[in-house]
Amino acid sequence: MLKYQETLKNLKEQGRYRALVLPNGIDLTSNDYLGMAEHPDLRRVAMEALEGGLMSGAAGSRLLRGHTASHQNLEHYAAAYFGAEKALYFSSGFQANFALFSTLPDRRDAVIYDSLIHASVRDGLQASHARSVKFAHNDLNDLEAKVKAVRDQAETLFIAVESVYSMDGDMDPLHDIFELAQRYDAILIVDEAHASGIYGERGRGLCREIIKAQGYERLITLHTCGKAIGVAGGLVCAQAEVIDYLINCSRPFIYSTAPMPLQALLVQKSLEILDSAEGDSRRERLFSVCARARELLGGEGTQILPVILGSDARAVEVAKVLQGEGFDVRAIRPPSVPEGTARLRVSLSSELALGELERFAGLLRPYLEAEQAA
Ligand SMILES: Cc1ncc(COP(=O)(O)O)c(C=O)c1O
Repeated sequence: MLKYQETLKNLKEQGRYRALVLPNGIDLTSNDYLGMAEHPDLRRVAMEALEGGLMSGAAGSRLLRGHTASHQNLEHYAAAYFGAEKALYFSSGFQANFALFSTLPDRRDAVIYDSLIHASVRDGLQASHARSVKFAHNDLNDLEAKVKAVRDQAETLFIAVESVYSMDGDMDPLHDIFELAQRYDAILIVDEAHASGIYGERGRGLCREIIKAQGYERLITLHTCGKAIGVAGGLVCAQAEVIDYLINCSRPFIYSTAPMPLQALLVQKSLEILDSAEGDSRRERLFSVCARARELLGGEGTQILPVILGSDARAVEVAKVLQGEGFDVRAIRPPSVPEGTARLRVSLSSELALGELERFAGLLRPYLEAEQAA
């Protein structure tokens, strides 16, 4: 169709056209940070469950017949694991965020969100009637100024952040933000997508200490299950009334077929492994890869290493060279990242051999030096 052709042509001209490419080479791109997506125990549990008669589809929405024992067991397990009164499982993290932000804040409320927050939060906010205000990334002073500006007009005030930012790999000053939320009687919503399974006590996320000290009274957490957890879906953890409200009022939850029961079963199995000595050793391996990457290439020391190359063309060109050397690393361009910050998003895993990391760093370094010299 003509109008789409035009847009696609423009994207090509700008070097922003995107196409689907199969995995190829050493993985420096996926979010399978702990190698759980290929775990033999998850494969075995899946085969046994299906052979034992587990249905492949849920065959209905959760409020109808699509609610199965696998969903219920996972939600009980996840609530206990994360220390919440209740948990609710969605088909994806995107759907969970969209549901949270389009349902909880209403026209009397306001949401203040970090400028680098994920698209799923922004889209949820667009579908909400609440006022939403952006604050400068990880800037506590700007956050407080925005809070002061809207506090008196908002019945309920929400603050939305990620605990590890998906494209920059930096953590936020979570405890200070939580303290600020308390001071201004706000609810903090933390997207733990890139922390769940990895950080906090046995992978419970970076909110763990806050939860242990204060519970979920001023907090809601989101844990995506397709990254370090290695399966798919999104878990929202909160006080019981918040979860019951989502079950009753959230359109993305109500008007959608439940996730496959198998998916819920595998998420629970993965959480069980992550809460064991094996989970500890996977995390230790990942942390030693992260430490070596930081020595070689800098960055924040988390498993996400942004290599900012500026122009789109440059990011695509460098990615191609590295792909030619056998590394599956991809160029990330606007609108996924701000204008002028096209980058390689190098994603590290417990399964990455240190020798390969060193070879990769050796190939990348000249480009980094050229960038610094420019
Ligand atoms: C911070 C953040 N939140 C939410 C999501 C969405 O999660 P999912 O991939 O499970 O839909 C992502 C995934 O890209 C993410 O990075």
